[in-house]
Amino acid sequence: MAAALQKSNGKKWHDLYPELGTGPIPIEPYISREFFEKEQALIFRKVWLNVGRVEQLPNPGDYFVKDLAVCKTSILIVRGKDGTIRAFHNMCAHRGNKLVADASGTCKGLFTCKFHGWAYGLSSSSLFCCSMNSS
Ligand code: FES
Repeated sequence: MAAALQKSNGKKWHDLYPELGTGPIPIEPYISREFFEKEQALIFRKVWLNVGRVEQLPNPGDYFVKDLAVCKTSILIVRGKDGTIRAFHNMCAHRGNKLVADASGTCKGLFTCKFHGWAYGLSSSSLFCCSMNSS
């Protein structure tokens, strides 16, 4: 960046990089449903996504939910009992209900699905279903 600024010597960027152009920027990529769907398929499902900061989960059991519209899913991010932060699909294994509705909080022991009551505990490496009703 410093080299680029030295190179500019008071000139405008478009003088140094005419290929960038000075015309209006097309709005189609920002409003097009088809463009968004291509971005979802070709970019957002294949790259790491920033969903939050470590500081959001200072203690074991702390969690937050991130709804990722670009991936059409909801993610539950949890600091486990072992201190490791992990992310899971925020979905009950029974019938796919959203497991955690709160934006954030601290899991005192179990995440319990509000639909039929399946409950999930925090193991060292996963959410495990530890209580099921026969619904
Ligand atoms: S959908 Fe979660 S317990 Fe049935």
